[in-house]
Amino acid sequence: MHIARAVALPLSGRCVVQTGPMRIVFVCLGNICRSPAAEAIFAAQAQQAGLDVEIESAGTGSWHIGEQPHQGTRQEARSRDIAVDHLGQQFTSSDFGRFDVVVAMDSSNVSDLLDLAPDRESRDKVVRMGQFAPDVQRTGVLDVPDPYGKPQQAFSAMFDQLEPAAAGLVAAIQNGSVAGRASVGDDR
Ligand code: 4NP
Repeated sequence: MHIARAVALPLSGRCVVQTGPMRIVFVCLGNICRSPAAEAIFAAQAQQAGLDVEIESAGTGSWHIGEQPHQGTRQEARSRDIAVDHLGQQFTSSDFGRFDVVVAMDSSNVSDLLDLAPDRESRDKVVRMGQFAPDVQRTGVLDVPDPYGKPQQAFSAMFDQLEPAAAGLVAAIQNGSVAGRASVGDDR
C-alpha cells in the first residue's frame, strides 16, 4: 500500500515536488554482499518508521545476476532477525529513470554510477550510504568496505556500519534533507 506523498526534495538546490512512494535503490559492485544487506536493513527500518518507499538493490557488475545474496550476508541477517529477499540484478543506465535516490556503498560505486548516468538529473540522484551515518562528521568514514572474500567478522562489521547509516537515511527522508551529490572529488 502506498500513501500519497508530497515532499520537497532539495536535490542540488532545486526543489522537486514529488507524489507517491520515494523510490530508492542501493548499489554496490556485485549485489550479493553490501547492497542486499543495505536494502534489507533499510526496508525493516523504513517499515517500522512508516515510510512510503519502494526499495531495491543492484550491482554495477553482472557476475551475480539471478543469484541469492552471499552466505555471509544471509547468515548475518538471520542472526539479527532481518529478512533478506533478493536476487542479484545489474544496475543499468536506464535504471536512473526508475529511482529518485541511488545510494552507493563506496566511492568506486559512485564513480561507476556517474559514468553510467545519462544526464545531470541522474547524476544528482547519487548519494553515498556513509554520508547518512550519524557520526560521519567525526569519523569522516563514507565508504562501506567490501566484505567479499573476507571472514564472517567483516560481514558483521558491515551490518554494524549499515544499521546506523540506514537509520540516518530514514531520518533524512523524514526531514526532507536527502540531498545528492556524493562527493568523489570530481565535478561531473
Ligand atoms: P558486493 O561484493 O559489491 O558488496 O556485492 C562483491 C561481490 C562479488 C564481487 C565483487 C564484490 N565479484 O567480483 O564477484
